[in-house]
Amino acid sequence: MVLIDGKATAATIKAEIKEEVERIVAEGGKRPHLAAVLVGHDGGSETYVKNKVLACEACGFESTLIRYEDDITEEELLSCVSKLNSDDSIDGFIVQLPLPKHIDEQRVIEAIDYRKDVDGFHPINVGRMAIGLPCFISATPLGILTLLKRYNVETSGRKCVILGRSNIVGKPMAQLMMQKQYGDATVTVCHSRSRGLKEECQQADILIAAIGRPGFVTADMVKEGATVIDVGTTRVPDASRKSGFRLSGDVAFDEVAPKCSFITPVPGGVGPMTICMLMLNTLSAGKHEFYQ
Ligand code: GUN
Repeated sequence: MVLIDGKATAATIKAEIKEEVERIVAEGGKRPHLAAVLVGHDGGSETYVKNKVLACEACGFESTLIRYEDDITEEELLSCVSKLNSDDSIDGFIVQLPLPKHIDEQRVIEAIDYRKDVDGFHPINVGRMAIGLPCFISATPLGILTLLKRYNVETSGRKCVILGRSNIVGKPMAQLMMQKQYGDATVTVCHSRSRGLKEECQQADILIAAIGRPGFVTADMVKEGATVIDVGTTRVPDASRKSGFRLSGDVAFDEVAPKCSFITPVPGGVGPMTICMLMLNTLSAGKHEFYQ
C-alpha cells in the first residue's frame, strides 16, 4: 500500500511555481496577483482563506483579502465582483463559498469574469472543461488528477467510481475522469439515491469519495488493490484537540488502507492539493495561458 502524500506533493509544486514566478519577474513580467473575497466568519472558510493567502506568499504571488460582514447585500457583493473584474492589477480572484443564505451564489459566480475565474466555477469554464477545451479547472478535481498522475496510478480503461455529485467535486471529477486527455476511465457516479452503491464501489479500480459522510467507505466496499481517494473533510468534535475538532474523511482509513494499492489520508491528502491547484490556476491567469 502506498500512502499518497498530498502535503509533500503540494509543497513540491508550490516550489516549482515560485521558481517560475521569480523567473517571470526577473524577465520584467508581472507577479501574479490573487484576490479572495470572504463574507462573514464561518470557521472553515476563515481557515481556507487564511491558507490561500499563505500559499500565495509561498508561491511569490501578491494577494489581497477583501472581507465583508455577513449582512452585506447581494448588490454590494456584485459591485465588488465588478470592481475586481475591471482591476487590471488582479489576475484572478475567488469568492469563498458558502455565502449567506440571502445571497444568490450562482448569480455571484456568473458575475465573475470567466478569464479571472481561477476557481473554475463559471459556466463558461465548466462547459469548456466538459468538452476538453483549455480553461480553469476547479481545484479539487485538478488536485486529484495531479496526484494520480504524479503517483503513476493507471486510470486509462479502468473503472472509476465517484461518490457524490456536487458541482465543485463530483460532477467535474466525473467529466475529467472520462475524458481521453485526462482519466480515460470508465466512470460511474453514485449518490445518496443510488441503488447497489456498495456493489458499484466493489467494482472500482479507482474510488473517489466526496459525499461528506465520515467513515462512509468501509473495507467491504473496496476491491483488493484499488486506489482510494478521500475528499471528505468533515469537522467532528474532538475535545482532545486545541481547536475542539478534527477533520474526518469519507473513508474508514484504518480498515480500508490495507486493501489498497494507493490511498490518500485525511488530513494531508487531497486538501493541500486543492489550494496548490488554485495557485497553479492563478499562475495560468497571470500568464494569460487560457484566455487573452
Ligand atoms: N468553498 C469550499 N471549497 C471552495 C473552493 O474551492 N472555492 C471557493 N471559492 N469556495 C469554496
